[in-house]
Amino acid sequence: QANERESMYLVSEFAQQYFVKTLWETQPGKAIGLTYFKERGFTDETIKMFGLGYSLDQWEAFTQEALSGSYKLDFLEKTGLTIVKDQGAGEKKTFDRFKGRVMFPIHSMSGRVLGFGGRILTNDKKAAKYLNSPESEIYHKSKVLYGIYYAKQAIAKEDNCYLVEGYTDVIQMHQRGIHNVVASSGTALTPEQIRLINRLTKNITVLFDGDAAGLRASLRGIDLILEQGMNVKVCTFPEGEDPDSFAKNNAYEDLVLYLEQNAKDFIQFKTSLLAKEAANDPIKRAETVRDIVGSIAKIPDRIKREIYIQECAKMMQLSEDTLYSALAQLDKKSM
Ligand code: CTP
Ligand code: MN
Ligand code: MN
Ligand code: MN
Ligand code: MN
Repeated sequence: QANERESMYLVSEFAQQYFVKTLWETQPGKAIGLTYFKERGFTDETIKMFGLGYSLDQWEAFTQEALSGSYKLDFLEKTGLTIVKDQGAGEKKTFDRFKGRVMFPIHSMSGRVLGFGGRILTNDKKAAKYLNSPESEIYHKSKVLYGIYYAKQAIAKEDNCYLVEGYTDVIQMHQRGIHNVVASSGTALTPEQIRLINRLTKNITVLFDGDAAGLRASLRGIDLILEQGMNVKVCTFPEGEDPDSFAKNNAYEDLVLYLEQNAKDFIQFKTSLLAKEAANDPIKRAETVRDIVGSIAKIPDRIKREIYIQECAKMMQLSEDTLYSALAQLDKKSM
């Protein structure tokens, strides 16, 4: 349904402009939204470039504005911008999905607005911190990377892509001068997302949050990246930090230096992480070896595999033969 999709793009574009206008030109926009972004350290230029906005804390301010601009309720509902509730007897009530949130538009590779992330401003633990557009004809969460439109040129030029978790990580790093950054937006990384990067570079550096969740997410992501024949490095941050906080609190030179000194090739990353956990427990050590060999098995290129086997043998103090037979066993299983 090309027409339907086009109508959904148009209403999303309208919403994007409306949220920007609300941020800069209304009293609550300025007092609440703009103040919030400035407290996070974003400059006017950055806020404008990423099209950040504000959605008024009113039940249906946006929906009414869109309807009076003759956008159809049907498309407002299909994009998820408006929530429609049936009151019975043909009565319908409409609500703005993003009421009272600061808005992060999500763009396609070519710059079209596909959807939004909206962040809550209070510390209300009961409400979701971020609310995102629902899956729709134009927004497929698993196929988008936040920031790709702003990063694509730099990714190709630097021949590397930094992969972070969140919206603010992308924005803060960009503002600090590192432009080849995209975010998986908190979802588990998907093959489709990696394929988007694969069109621009073969090199990914994963920069996940310095917490247990971030660590687990990077480990999961590694194998998916390797499967596509890409090279992957991992750089972790000190406990409790994420790329946003780190970029905010460090100068460009220090950020670059940190990334250079702490980005480890996946095999080093995984080996040192797992080896620490396994320590002197032989059973755990065996599991660790199988786990790492499992990752190596995902690499399509045989020469690269061989190099990684050598590396792993050295790090784990095992013979290459042992690793090759573990690899052969895995290959047999997956056939
Ligand atoms: N996320 C989400 N819904 C949530 C929490 C997180 O969609 N309830 C997504 C967002 O895209 C978020 C990313 O996961 O940017 C990473 O989550 P987290 O690290 O918790 O948030 P930050 O990006 O660090 O957000 P902030 O700094 O604003 O707290
Ligand atoms: Mn589609
Ligand atoms: Mn996190
Ligand atoms: Mn984070
Ligand atoms: Mn953060």
